[in-house]
Amino acid sequence: MRIEVKSLSFAYTQKLVLNNLSFALDHGDFLTLVGKNGTGKSTLIKCLLKILKVGDGTIFFDGIDINTLKRFENVGYVPQKIEFSYEFPITASEILSSAYMKRKDEYYTKIINTLGINPFYRDNVNNLSGGQFQRVTIARALLNHPQLLILDEPTVGIDNENVRSLFEILKKLKEKKVNIIISTHDIEFAKNLSDYYLELNEVGDYSFYR
Ligand SMILES: Nc1ncnc2c1ncn2[C@@H]1O[C@H](COP(=O)(O)OP(=O)(O)OP(=O)(O)O)[C@@H](O)[C@H]1O
Ligand SMILES: [Mg+2]
Repeated sequence: MRIEVKSLSFAYTQKLVLNNLSFALDHGDFLTLVGKNGTGKSTLIKCLLKILKVGDGTIFFDGIDINTLKRFENVGYVPQKIEFSYEFPITASEILSSAYMKRKDEYYTKIINTLGINPFYRDNVNNLSGGQFQRVTIARALLNHPQLLILDEPTVGIDNENVRSLFEILKKLKEKKVNIIISTHDIEFAKNLSDYYLELNEVGDYSFYR
């Protein structure tokens, strides 16, 4: 998918976070968002997902203004901070199978296996560790064959072995021309995947480079 961000600005009530930001990605490009805490990486991601409503500027997916899209198909999202407390018991398997539109097949099993979810597949998610729950969230995002996958600091809190699995997953998706956007402070993780970097500095001060 082609992604174009044109003169994007965003403010939380009084506070301007993004100002006049523009960049474009081609089909299959991998973009890494970098920049200090509070520079607006998560905010930009939420604008791309329409979780936040853009003030000024326009975002196009394949030439279509995302404001005119009723719902996103094929967009996967792994949030930075997962705020949840399920009042009722729900298991990892229930979260994953409800996210999967089809009958469980090889693809489903492969994702569960690659992310090492089997040991806690039947557990209530309230009892999972942060990293285990993060892996469930990543699996959920992958299930519906996203054409655009956005991961906000996906390596935080995950052990080395699973960071390597995630790296391999992203590498394979990139080979399949899935667009991927991650935000990270882990340059080592990003450097062998990224086609572009977008560095957010002060408000209105950005650099977009290969
Ligand atoms: N819901 C909100 N209401 C008001 N201000 C917010 C809100 N969310 C974020 N901000 C502010 O917007 C700025 C950008 O925050 P954002 O979370 O996008 O930064 P970030 O680059 O993702 O940082 P980090 O590296 O810590 O994840 C920060 O100054 C933050 O305090
Ligand atoms: Mg953030």
